[in-house]
Amino acid sequence: MSVTGISLILFLTFHCCMNVAAFFSGEAYNMVCEFLGTNWYALVGTMALAVLAVCHIVYAFILTAQNRRARGSERYAVTDRRPEVSWASQNMLVLGIIILLGLVLHLYNFWGHMMFAELADIEVAHSPSDGFAWIQDTFSNPVFSILYLLWICAIWFHLSHGFWSAMQTLGWSGKIWLKRWQMIGLIYVTILMAIFAFLVLSFWLGFAPSL
Ligand code: HEM
Repeated sequence: MSVTGISLILFLTFHCCMNVAAFFSGEAYNMVCEFLGTNWYALVGTMALAVLAVCHIVYAFILTAQNRRARGSERYAVTDRRPEVSWASQNMLVLGIIILLGLVLHLYNFWGHMMFAELADIEVAHSPSDGFAWIQDTFSNPVFSILYLLWICAIWFHLSHGFWSAMQTLGWSGKIWLKRWQMIGLIYVTILMAIFAFLVLSFWLGFAPSL
């Protein structure tokens, strides 16, 4: 879970950097989209990403089932939450399911109209490599913008726990480093999600570049 989780965070970092281009110029953003397109390296990346996501989700269910079985019929002997146990850490599976639902919508909006449309030779409203037009289309709809903002909040909660938890699982955190990873993770994940959220807001509220 930790290795696939960290790999997915690395993908999100790459995805975030790519999206930053859309703040400055539609042309620059579309150059990145065209560079990826349906080239072999983009297809290999997509397939690797799908394998990582499936492994992460399957392990999430297996580990949750194991934890519940280990606890027996009484899920928690003490139900009062200790202050150091975050809300996110107790709701990772629920957050993960919300993230998965958001991902299905996101893949429909972008991947379906771009890479898949090109591969399947399906006629769509804009060119499959015109990522900028798909962003404008998606976030001009307030329902999508609000759903995306909620989705980004869910990812923030999930990663605010997941980041340092992965480091702990891999054995890279002792007494001192646990606190450090918690702080590093919080700052890193907040920056990533703030950029995604700002992108949604800028296209929704109309302060993004026009091309
Ligand atoms: C909110 C701003 C976001 C925008 C504008 C955006 C835009 C895009 C675009 C243009 C693509 C490329 C589709 C293609 O070329 O086929 C894409 C793919 C994708 N996005 Fe996002 N994205 C955003 C946020 C996110 C977030 C928060 C996640 C985290 C789960 C995410 C996960 C993905 C995945 C998994 C793919 C498929 C990648 C692939 O085909 O290899 N995106 N997105």
